[in-house]
Amino acid sequence: MSYNPYSLEGKTILITGASSGIGQTTAIECSKLGAKVIITARNEKRLNETFLQLHGEGHQQIIADLTVREDLDYLIENITQLDGLVNNAGINKILPVQFINENDFENILKINTIAPVFLMQRLFKKKKFNRNASIVITSSIGGVFSITPANAMYGMSKSAISSFMKFTALEMSIKGIRCNCVNPGMIETPLIDKAVLTTEDRERDIAKYPLKRYGKPTDVAFGIIYLLSDASSWVTGTSLVIDGGITI
Ligand SMILES: NC(=O)c1ccc[n+]([C@@H]2O[C@H](COP(=O)([O-])OP(=O)(O)OC[C@H]3O[C@@H](n4cnc5c(N)ncnc54)[C@H](OP(=O)(O)O)[C@@H]3O)[C@@H](O)[C@H]2O)c1
Repeated sequence: MSYNPYSLEGKTILITGASSGIGQTTAIECSKLGAKVIITARNEKRLNETFLQLHGEGHQQIIADLTVREDLDYLIENITQLDGLVNNAGINKILPVQFINENDFENILKINTIAPVFLMQRLFKKKKFNRNASIVITSSIGGVFSITPANAMYGMSKSAISSFMKFTALEMSIKGIRCNCVNPGMIETPLIDKAVLTTEDRERDIAKYPLKRYGKPTDVAFGIIYLLSDASSWVTGTSLVIDGGITI
């Protein structure tokens, strides 16, 4: 077998938000590197499309809405020991501060912030993580910088989960478990299609990126894979920025 410090051979990895975008690509790329993946999301048809693209055998797919307590229980009861977790499921809604309402704000916080917190907590309590397991959270540069206008709810949700990541990294280090974030810039996925940018807005925005393009899901997946792999075994409590240079 050829030398590969980023190999995921022998690792079992749970990936949330795997029916689309970054999560789907991460699941497929992890399977190509030898991982057994457990993929989860709400949409059965789209999750199954991911499942059919996985390489190798022994993978699992579980339908769950991570904001629903019973679904979370079902997910946790039906998974084996984990070497990795990718907390990736998330949503966005662009709204200026003066139009923020409780319903949208709660929905964003529930899936972007509260769901990953309790998924991690429940997995710890049920001792589902193997020693030296790695947790990765898909946060965002929007949690650090106010680059996208009218993105306060999303930015706050990502800022909060990035802060939680550091406490988790510190508390779990005693068990050899690592916890890190990736902070992507704009990535070509269905999530940004919902941001309804006009073609002109989009072109103007892309021009601001030093590398002159939006990211691809693989750009983020490869960062996540580094953090899941043993290549990053001395990296914890940090945020890996993957943004084509926009925050320089
Ligand atoms: N695209 C970007 O520009 C960008 C930039 C920075 C960070 N991010 C972050 O990257 C992550 C993935 O985003 P993406 O761009 O790949 O978006 P996406 O294509 O819209 O995928 C979002 C995923 O989250 C899942 N999801 C949403 N609500 C859920 C719920 N209540 N329970 C379970 N699963 C749920 C969706 O699955 P179902 O609908 O099947 O449930 C879907 O698989 C998000 O956390 C996002 O904030 C994205």
